[in-house]
Amino acid sequence: MHQKRTIVSCLVAMAILTGCNSSSDPVPKPPVESSTLPYFSEWPQIDSQIDKDQAIETHIALILGQMTLEEKVGQMVQPNLPEVTPAEAKQYKLGSILNGGGAWPNNNKYASAADWVYAADQYWEALEEAYADRGFKVPFMWATDAVHGHNNVYRATVFPHNIGLGAANNPELIKQIGQATAKEVSATGLDWTFAPTVASPRDYRWGRVYEGYSEDPEIIHLYAGKMVEGLQGGAEGLKGQTNVISNVKHWVGDGGTLDGKDRGENYYSEEYLRNIHATGYFSGLDAGAQVVMSSFNSWHNPANYDQNAGSDSATYNHKLHGSKYLLNDILKEKMGFDGLIVTDWNGQGELSGCSAANCPEAVNAGNDIFMVTARSDWKAFYNNVISQVNDGTISMQRIDDAVTRILRVKMRANLWEKPKPSLRQLAGNDDILGSDSHRALARQAVSESLVLLKNKDAVLPLSKSKPYIILGSAANSIQKQTGGWSLTWQGDGNTIAKDFPGASTLKMALEDEVGAANVYTSESSAPPEAIAIVVIGEDPYAEMFGDIKASQTLEFSSLKASYAADLAIVKAMKEVGRQVVTVFYSGRPLYVNEELNHSDAFVAAWLPGTEAGGITDVLFAHSGADFKGRLSYSWPMKKCSTTINRHAPNIENYVTPSMEQDIEGEHKPLFPYGYGLAYASSDQQGVTEDLDDLPLDTREFGCGVDEPDNGVANVNLEIFGPSENGEYQPRIAGEANGWAAVDVDRGAVTTIGSLSVTPINYLHQQDAVKLEFGSSIAEIFFETLDGAGSDRNAYVNADSSLQFDIQLLSEAPASMRLRADCEYPCTAELDISGALPAVRTEGDAEWDTVKIPLSCLVAEGMEFSFVDKVFLLQSAAPVTVNLGNIRYVPRSLDAAEDALTCEGL
Ligand code: BGC
Ligand code: BGC
Repeated sequence: MHQKRTIVSCLVAMAILTGCNSSSDPVPKPPVESSTLPYFSEWPQIDSQIDKDQAIETHIALILGQMTLEEKVGQMVQPNLPEVTPAEAKQYKLGSILNGGGAWPNNNKYASAADWVYAADQYWEALEEAYADRGFKVPFMWATDAVHGHNNVYRATVFPHNIGLGAANNPELIKQIGQATAKEVSATGLDWTFAPTVASPRDYRWGRVYEGYSEDPEIIHLYAGKMVEGLQGGAEGLKGQTNVISNVKHWVGDGGTLDGKDRGENYYSEEYLRNIHATGYFSGLDAGAQVVMSSFNSWHNPANYDQNAGSDSATYNHKLHGSKYLLNDILKEKMGFDGLIVTDWNGQGELSGCSAANCPEAVNAGNDIFMVTARSDWKAFYNNVISQVNDGTISMQRIDDAVTRILRVKMRANLWEKPKPSLRQLAGNDDILGSDSHRALARQAVSESLVLLKNKDAVLPLSKSKPYIILGSAANSIQKQTGGWSLTWQGDGNTIAKDFPGASTLKMALEDEVGAANVYTSESSAPPEAIAIVVIGEDPYAEMFGDIKASQTLEFSSLKASYAADLAIVKAMKEVGRQVVTVFYSGRPLYVNEELNHSDAFVAAWLPGTEAGGITDVLFAHSGADFKGRLSYSWPMKKCSTTINRHAPNIENYVTPSMEQDIEGEHKPLFPYGYGLAYASSDQQGVTEDLDDLPLDTREFGCGVDEPDNGVANVNLEIFGPSENGEYQPRIAGEANGWAAVDVDRGAVTTIGSLSVTPINYLHQQDAVKLEFGSSIAEIFFETLDGAGSDRNAYVNADSSLQFDIQLLSEAPASMRLRADCEYPCTAELDISGALPAVRTEGDAEWDTVKIPLSCLVAEGMEFSFVDKVFLLQSAAPVTVNLGNIRYVPRSLDAAEDALTCEGL
């Protein structure tokens, strides 16, 4: 009954397939133990483990028929925990809430299981009360990002991020991790996790590579169903009290954006979108996942262009959140998905013409629940949807479809029968969070995820009876081990002592292994025979904060000064003649040729989480433990081999799409997909390079930029004013509009929230603006029309100053920020409030000129090789200024003796 009804073309896919009656098997066995990945010539029909149940459908119809429009819309709104009280949940009859990364009950990072359950009770009871006089009820539910264990919660077990699990290549383990995670989530009284992520990250520059199991659809297809089974436990499990609702995300193509830009643009063909980026949905939904999350990315394809219900296709930015084609026509209709679609964090607001608070297009496209996170936005969204139904912009049928799906998922999860959160089986049980058995499972997962890239002269396994020196930025860093989405959104601000009781860093695990007396932390104090274990790696990041910018490369040691210091340690240990074992924590493969050259052994350990004992278990070959991990991503040989993906094995005659690189030629991986050494075998798996003497890539500039401009500018860069050439567009954004950029109208007033911009005459007609900032933080900035960056080093070389003319019309605020961006968060800012001129009266003919050396921005980290926002002014407090004539001026044109000094800023 639950057999796949996937539409498979045996002719095209030939023979790695199960389900085709082909006896010959001409395709070489992929590294995955048993591949089940078919070729999908069409979007397959889902055959969910959770069947439609007529009793449930009848019950839903009965309830739906009694619900008011307001009650229905309340089901569709999902605020973030800190932005909604139980009283508000009751008043608006909200169907669900989420806790975003770093949101905890009472803003207490150390909230216990009982604290979470108590909070869940408050909302649950609020909804009971809200429906008390209605003769029927609709229960409440709570969603969380339990993406590597129940990672937002203090004391929870933190499993390796998906990139490590992909290397472990063990589908049963994935199911067990799903079960353990479901128990920990149940212990806190929550109902739903936004997991698993089933992206196929193709470009290693993406800040979310580590959230994907593999760059290739095969493992993802194998795993997604297993994770869903573990989390939900099938139809019966989902009704019980130790499983939770699972949510595959982000539909679809998030891992295929151009240049790996988070929330960026996907240009894959429909065939490749389906076969590379969607296979996790096929197995995940077959396993019964009840929720799909829409993705922030857009999809550029004619099939997607004209489908954005109710909006002008000429301005539609092809975002998935507005794609009626992919949400409704494909996912719901063609594939027959009968669960619910949730938007991503204010994702509706990224549709052109929309804001978080107002986006009927996203409702019409087929999203059912809207994560509208901020208080003022979700209230406005609620009211907007109600009036949009009343005026016919949104049909009642669409609302009923959404609410039917929401009720269906709630009924399948048995929420009408489950007692309030505190009375559930595991509720409030702090022993389940981070229990011994869950930690043991995590430790096993860590061991199995490790990939041995180099092991010269069998330096590994290590011996218990020797001394060791442990060094490197990651040796004792829980943050580097856990990565993003760990207690906080970015995974930063954490220490092992305060935030991860019971966890161990690699240094601690090593001390456990060989005794603290045998572990040295400096070269000079260690005996000559001590082997150096150098633990290095990336700082934690999440989402766009992890994107590698156009001005950068994949070279680990050039991403941050502290990473260069890590390389220096590896080299220094080699130079003094030590044997060097390097353990590398990273959210993606990176260029580490130099680190490899100077290491005897090199282990890719990904982002292992709280159980570093899983690393020492294998380094010391405990009870015969060996390296089992194999690369689920290809490993680059060159600094800009960013997109060197294994050719999806289900696609015959793979034709490398233009956004991927030629892996047979210039971008041949150093270590191919599937590579990984083991103690038990000396097979180099076809890698013939001398790993002591890898060639070094001499590229000195970013992968997204041309060779830096060594020229020296001798004309002004006119950004805004009488001499500008229209290259830069003024835009405004602020907290009040969810930071969506709005073009400043050069002929009329433009307003967002509390900032308004009025064109005024200065040197010419309408060549300047009057800015009225209010009390909510907002900014004006100038960037190219398409937002693309460019190399402005010639202005740095010319020792230029950034100059603008200003009239301060009210008292200067305590802080006013001037910024330039090299693709945020690559940015530099200066507080110029103290440097602003005296207040003038409106109508005064005199203006003041402010001159700031570009070198002050360089000192703050600005990369002028890739400038997208050439000028930005931000205020969080009320102030009125006239602003005009913004330009970069080379020193040769203005010695700028009157410029501000960096120290004075
Ligand atoms: C992320 C999602 C996450 C959501 C809620 C978004 O920004 O893209 O993966 O589930 O936030 O925290
Ligand atoms: C939230 C995250 C969310 C992100 C989206 C953060 O403030 O805490 O959960 O994913 O915003 O951009």
